[in-house]
Amino acid sequence: MRSFISAAALLLLTGVSSMALAQDAQPMADGAQSASFADDVWTYAEPETARVSHVDLDLVADFENKRVYGTAVLDIVAEPGAQSVVLDDKGLRIDLVTDMDGTPLPISVGEQDEMLGAPLRIRLNGNSKIKISYASAPGAEALQWLPKEATAGGEKPYLFSQGQPINNRSWIPTQDSPGIRQTWEARITVPQGLVAVMSGDKLTPDGVPTADGRVSYRFKMDNAVPPYLIALAVGDLAFKPLGPNSGVYTEVAMLDAAADEFQDVEKMIAAAEDLYGPYRWGRYDMLVLPPSFPYGGMENPTLTFLTPTIITGDRSNTDVVAHELAHSWSGNLVTNATWSDSWLNEGFTTYFENRIMEAVYGKDRAALYADLDYGTMLSDIAAAGGMDAPATRLHGDPGETAGQLDYFKGSTFLRTIEKAVGRDRFDAYLRGYFDRFAFQPQTTAGFLTDLRAHLIKGDAALERELKLDQWAYQPGLPDNAVHIQSATLAQVDRELAAFNAGGPVSAVDTQGWSTQQWMRFLRGIPREQSAARLQELDEGLNLSGNGNAYVRSAWYEIAIANRYDPAVPSLKQYLTTVGRMLLIRPLYQGLAAQGSWGRPIATDAFAQAKSGYHPMTAAMTERILAEPTN
Ligand code: BES
Ligand code: ZN
Repeated sequence: MRSFISAAALLLLTGVSSMALAQDAQPMADGAQSASFADDVWTYAEPETARVSHVDLDLVADFENKRVYGTAVLDIVAEPGAQSVVLDDKGLRIDLVTDMDGTPLPISVGEQDEMLGAPLRIRLNGNSKIKISYASAPGAEALQWLPKEATAGGEKPYLFSQGQPINNRSWIPTQDSPGIRQTWEARITVPQGLVAVMSGDKLTPDGVPTADGRVSYRFKMDNAVPPYLIALAVGDLAFKPLGPNSGVYTEVAMLDAAADEFQDVEKMIAAAEDLYGPYRWGRYDMLVLPPSFPYGGMENPTLTFLTPTIITGDRSNTDVVAHELAHSWSGNLVTNATWSDSWLNEGFTTYFENRIMEAVYGKDRAALYADLDYGTMLSDIAAAGGMDAPATRLHGDPGETAGQLDYFKGSTFLRTIEKAVGRDRFDAYLRGYFDRFAFQPQTTAGFLTDLRAHLIKGDAALERELKLDQWAYQPGLPDNAVHIQSATLAQVDRELAAFNAGGPVSAVDTQGWSTQQWMRFLRGIPREQSAARLQELDEGLNLSGNGNAYVRSAWYEIAIANRYDPAVPSLKQYLTTVGRMLLIRPLYQGLAAQGSWGRPIATDAFAQAKSGYHPMTAAMTERILAEPTN
């Protein structure tokens, strides 16, 4: 698919013998992490030879030039005789690399791969600390620089980062692999009036004025984390506490609504700890970002990043908070060793998220999410090409698993194990799993080995019943898959059946519907509808004018499929404000599929929206529009 130099080839090129490597496969001296690293094809790093163990950033957020610049001091743990360390570098301007006395160290930057960036090789000359002076590129993939007009307050610009999976190499010169854990600290200097927050302990909550009229904020993270979890946001931020160890940051205009929406977070933390052991990260704060945030949420340690589209006024999307919180165990504590194992992060988290929702809101509400997830899993499998499609495997090439199958096939797998062994036994196992592998990377094979050792324990009947290898490595869905069904969704299905049989919109009782009920209803409407029926739907259910971004997106999917012109103005307005990929990807795809009708609308909307999109969202949209209509 893509070409990159294998770790072995790189070693040969640099003259480090692989013999030396083989002999050195023993625990590193500092014992912080074992010396065996899973083979991550998305990094240039050679951690067995020399690895980064600590990152110390001193950066200025330069809003005028849309770049961060400053220094990164790296601690390197090297094998005896290691000549150099290899970092991941995506478009960085490297100005100077020195030892801690200021003596320059020779560097070489390898060939640039469009996706992976380039290897940055630094000669160590015996040093275990190196200092890199650098700047990020204006288009750095991890960073979105928002002009003040694109913020809620409209008065100050905004910056945020998104590291997962391999974007952080565009603003931090380090080894950007989830299996190479690093502690970190940072000083971030910003223009006066702006607040910086990061995914670690906040050492200077109010900032410290600098001699030149700016403000510096300091942070640190003493737990070794995979580098994709280093995150930064800078904006006109306010804070509201929700409990002794939790609270929400966002622009003042959204603060009260956000605090109200996330009121239950303390209950969620308590429920999570009750299930799988102590929360090990100190505070749990949330940051609600501007609508261009490309994801629903991102589990940055101590500071979950969230899209504002989940603030719907009815707390019906707090599953996203439960999800990001759950990552504090599955993902941040026990981390997928490579992106081929992403289901260990997302599938475990989706399962855990649902257990938190059940503990806080009860079985019915949890079943609602689980049942919808099951439906999404089935449609993801169908869209990937059916039960034999390689992209339906949980473990495959990195990024290969289709749609959200790492989430929903992964969570269904765990639910299937839970059902077979019983909840109490499975909970005890999982609790032990998080303890055994705390602060370590995990592979799919490693999980299965652990499961066999600590849960199955040689029970041949259970082993046969579970079909573990089929779940983990084969495409499709094993026949023991557990499907949780929701009575609430069954009720929506009855409304839907009446409507689809030709019943009037006015007969549909949407009173008190949550986002999930709306989704079930709108997705269940056959794609082909008359203009009259679409108008009835839009007006009767207030779809184009809906305050709920999920509802609007699901409605536009139907409107686009029918080339329904009256929806186009509000659709364009939507595409220029919302940047959450999950909500806008299907709309661009639908428009692109509508050829001469849809393409001009998509192109036009994207031309207007692009400057306000995150680099990742813009790249995604460009890819969709570049594909020919078939
Ligand atoms: N870690 C993910 C976000 C992510 C995934 C970033 C892949 C980069 C690459 C996060 O935890 C997540 O899963 N967010 C979901 C919400 C969830 C409730 C399904 C999202 O963004 O929709
Ligand atoms: Zn997740």
